[in-house]
Amino acid sequence: MKQIHKQSSANQHQIPTHSPTYPVKNAKQHSTRSSLPRSAASYLLREQRLLFVLVGAVIASSFFLLHPYYHPPTPAATLPFFRRSAVAGDSTAISTSTVIGRTNPGGGRRVPVGLRKPPKRIVVTGGAGFVGSHLVDKLIARGDSVIVIDNFFTGRKENLVHLFGNPRFELIRHDVIEPILLEVDQIYHLACPASPVHYKYNPIKTIKTNVMGTLNMLGLAKRIGARFLLTSTSEVYGDPLEHPQKETYWGHVNPIGVRSCYDEGKRTAETLTMDYHRGAEVEVRIARIFNTYGPRMCIDDGRVVSNFVAQALRRQPMTVYGDGKQTRSFQFVSDLVDGLVTLMESEHIGPFNLGNPGEFTMLELAEVVKETVDPSATIDFKPNTADDPHMRKPDITKAMEFLNWAPKISLREGLPLMVNDFRKRILDEQK
Ligand SMILES: NC(=O)c1ccc[n+]([C@@H]2O[C@H](COP(=O)([O-])OP(=O)(O)OC[C@H]3O[C@@H](n4cnc5c(N)ncnc54)[C@H](O)[C@@H]3O)[C@@H](O)[C@H]2O)c1
Repeated sequence: MKQIHKQSSANQHQIPTHSPTYPVKNAKQHSTRSSLPRSAASYLLREQRLLFVLVGAVIASSFFLLHPYYHPPTPAATLPFFRRSAVAGDSTAISTSTVIGRTNPGGGRRVPVGLRKPPKRIVVTGGAGFVGSHLVDKLIARGDSVIVIDNFFTGRKENLVHLFGNPRFELIRHDVIEPILLEVDQIYHLACPASPVHYKYNPIKTIKTNVMGTLNMLGLAKRIGARFLLTSTSEVYGDPLEHPQKETYWGHVNPIGVRSCYDEGKRTAETLTMDYHRGAEVEVRIARIFNTYGPRMCIDDGRVVSNFVAQALRRQPMTVYGDGKQTRSFQFVSDLVDGLVTLMESEHIGPFNLGNPGEFTMLELAEVVKETVDPSATIDFKPNTADDPHMRKPDITKAMEFLNWAPKISLREGLPLMVNDFRKRILDEQK
């Protein structure tokens, strides 16, 4: 220890000989105290410190001007009427005024004046399914970057294969009942089996998908500040006592029936969505989708349009359950996708009915399929299934008024497009 101490004190004494500049500098500082500002300026100039200071200032100011993610926190007092009244529990505010006010309308990044709006980064859960794949096509065509999350329970890679290799498209095999972390601007949450055959196959998984899957996606939206859209369903109205169904109707649903995993699952998903909006200020949108048909539907999914078309193409009798007088309305998939995107980009939360108000009995639908596919097709009557609603027809006044949206494609125009797709797939299947 003594030796070490000796060595270090010896080194201290050597400093003036090895580095003679230190004592000179100190001496200068002490002797020129009165002319400090002038010497500081010359010090800055001589050491080029001024240059560094200026460059630093330029970098800092350009960061705050140009950085697209920087949003100053929104003080509660500046929230618009709806946000404040909804938090305060004013339920009328939810159904009437649905304007919300974030600093980034559209759920996107803030754009500096004079720059082009950047493309959005969007997650579509269930994007390999029937509706999801058409939605992805539209978003990609618009110039956005899309990440699809799907567990392929009812979805198919074939629905997206034309996008493989596109640098703005990604596909992740993932089950939404597990959490996931991604950085995006918007989340379209579609993941859920939609046809009775599929959602009754494993009811526990269906309700888990609706509840845990929606919770996970809402949690993600909250964490990253993304806008969230839930694809709910006309099934939330159950077997309705009001006809046509308006968004203000609370429904007539059996909570313990075989369809409840889907009906009540979606009702819970709507509840969670509104709770995250009121409680955590997540920007949300809710669409209540009515029967939709079109290319890429699962061929044997038990939904009435796909059943009739597939049976007629295979030259089998079309199965009508009950007396065939129950009614449904049928919307072509491109109309629905337009409605979903319009809703997401709008300043309205919803819920909004998205469907085609044209109403058909099952027997009328069978006639249209006969006209389109095979005039000699026959009908086979079978007993009706449990909890099958008698009437279903959307009132779309609210969507027309607030979103300026209405379906454009009639059943007679849309059905041939679906028949062409089914014909090709059924032929491939037979080969
Ligand atoms: N098509 C309609 O007529 C209709 C009507 C009302 C509501 N909807 C709603 O629209 C959405 C899409 O319906 P669709 O007709 O395209 O159904 P679909 O079955 O063709 O698509 C659902 C997709 O979600 C995926 N999925 C299911 N569970 C998942 C999970 N746990 N994790 C990840 N992915 C999962 C499936 O693999 C599939 O790709 C659904 O939420 C459905 O409830 C559809």
